[in-house]
Amino acid sequence: MNIRWKSIIAIASVFALILAIVIAFEINEKKKEPDPEYVFFYAENQSENYPTTLGANYFADLVYERTGGRIKILVKYDAQLGSESEVIKQMRYGGIAFARVSLSQLAEYIPDMNVLQMPYIYSSSEHMWRVLDGEIGDEFLEMAGDYGLTGLSWYDAGARNFYSTKPIYKVEDLQGMTIRVQESEVMADMVAALGAHPAKIVYSEVYSAFEQGLVDGAENNWPSYESMKHYKVATYYTVDEHTRVPEIQICSSVVWDMLSATDRATIMECAKESALYERRLWAEREKSSRLTAEQNGITVIELSSEEKQRFRDAMSGVYNKYCKGQMDILGKIMNY
Ligand code: GCU
Repeated sequence: MNIRWKSIIAIASVFALILAIVIAFEINEKKKEPDPEYVFFYAENQSENYPTTLGANYFADLVYERTGGRIKILVKYDAQLGSESEVIKQMRYGGIAFARVSLSQLAEYIPDMNVLQMPYIYSSSEHMWRVLDGEIGDEFLEMAGDYGLTGLSWYDAGARNFYSTKPIYKVEDLQGMTIRVQESEVMADMVAALGAHPAKIVYSEVYSAFEQGLVDGAENNWPSYESMKHYKVATYYTVDEHTRVPEIQICSSVVWDMLSATDRATIMECAKESALYERRLWAEREKSSRLTAEQNGITVIELSSEEKQRFRDAMSGVYNKYCKGQMDILGKIMNY
């Protein structure tokens, strides 16, 4: 091969290499996601695989997809952004954009919301969803606006029950027991009405409160009892279903107000869809959590309808205390 041919081949090889590099670069560029216009945090105090966290991830994915990658929501679970009440406070100033919190915590700031978590007001899960998915639920989502928050959707948290280190078969068994409650006056009063001493303890600290012997019992739904491993330290679970406290998905109004009407509509729609997703997961998790706890040797105590009525009667005093001026709506909810 003469020198001329060798040079042609060398030059052609260099060009081929350059071309390959350019093509590779372009392919890589195309693969890269566009930079989002907004990146928001979402606070969740449950663990990674809990139904509400999976609902939050679903919500974040939907929003990302439907805004063409312009809005990215980063879900921080396990209370990485603080306790529910700390999160709510920060959201008022836009420090955190989104969250899912227990209605009990929000009602501490918006007392009119308490009516939705009164003991024994829903006869079943279906009854609660009729209320929350109807005009009443919408009105209460809007109410969050009074506190610098925008209510997006309702997630499921089932029914709450007592669990303890000593068995609770009847109201009298609660006499003198120290029972952990959420940081909520209503919850504290409900437990006090049964003759127990309420101890307000943040969710993440309940397990160690049991371990240290600071409490004799607590109350929560099956998935929380299982997910937080409370079944290891409180082995009696009494199915009294004293209250159904829904979860509420919220957005800081500081953030909401800076979004376009189209983005708001997209977020609202994704929130509602994520709620339906969460409710399906919830139904499965309620069963599997109970099974896990039972397989670990806990004792489940089912109350007779007469005994359940005694729990209801003992707790009914809180209606007057917390729903003064809301008796109409309370009646409407109960008969909805
Ligand atoms: C439920 C709820 C949590 C809440 C907890 C509690 O598990 O999902 O958000 O913190 O109750 O009892 O504190």
